[in-house]
Amino acid sequence: MRSPGRDPKGLSGSHAKLLIRKPLCRVMTYVVTETCIKCKYTDCVDVCPVDCFREGPNMLVIDPDECIDCTLCVPECPVEAIFAEDDVPDAQAEFIAKNRELAKMWKPLIERKPAPTDADEWAKVKEKKHLLER
Ligand code: SF4
Ligand code: F3S
Repeated sequence: MRSPGRDPKGLSGSHAKLLIRKPLCRVMTYVVTETCIKCKYTDCVDVCPVDCFREGPNMLVIDPDECIDCTLCVPECPVEAIFAEDDVPDAQAEFIAKNRELAKMWKPLIERKPAPTDADEWAKVKEKKHLLER
């Protein structure tokens, strides 16, 4: 079933995405944190109305210049890796800058894809920052 808010203009698919632009005033961004590393389930990508996820070798980030603060991706992540910028835990604060930096280097991912075969195993691992590949 389509989630409410997924289609804020009453359109669907690429039509809805084409019409949504980030406002010029500052909007809070959402941030992908450490838990995503080596999990990369990509459920988040399917619901983003502005295609602002960027894919690295073993993690996704959000382009803060594109995110429109819609919150749709947050409940989609099975490992709760996504936080509002203002709610990022202190231990994960470095990922605010990392999302901004890596979003400039990595390419957009606009459709869900299969997670790594060992994603469920890595979901149980807390300390993964050192495993981030660029
Ligand atoms: Fe995309 Fe999530 Fe930002 Fe919404 S909150 S625009 S789904 S990254
Ligand atoms: Fe990562 Fe969660 Fe998306 S694991 S790829 S932030 S669904």
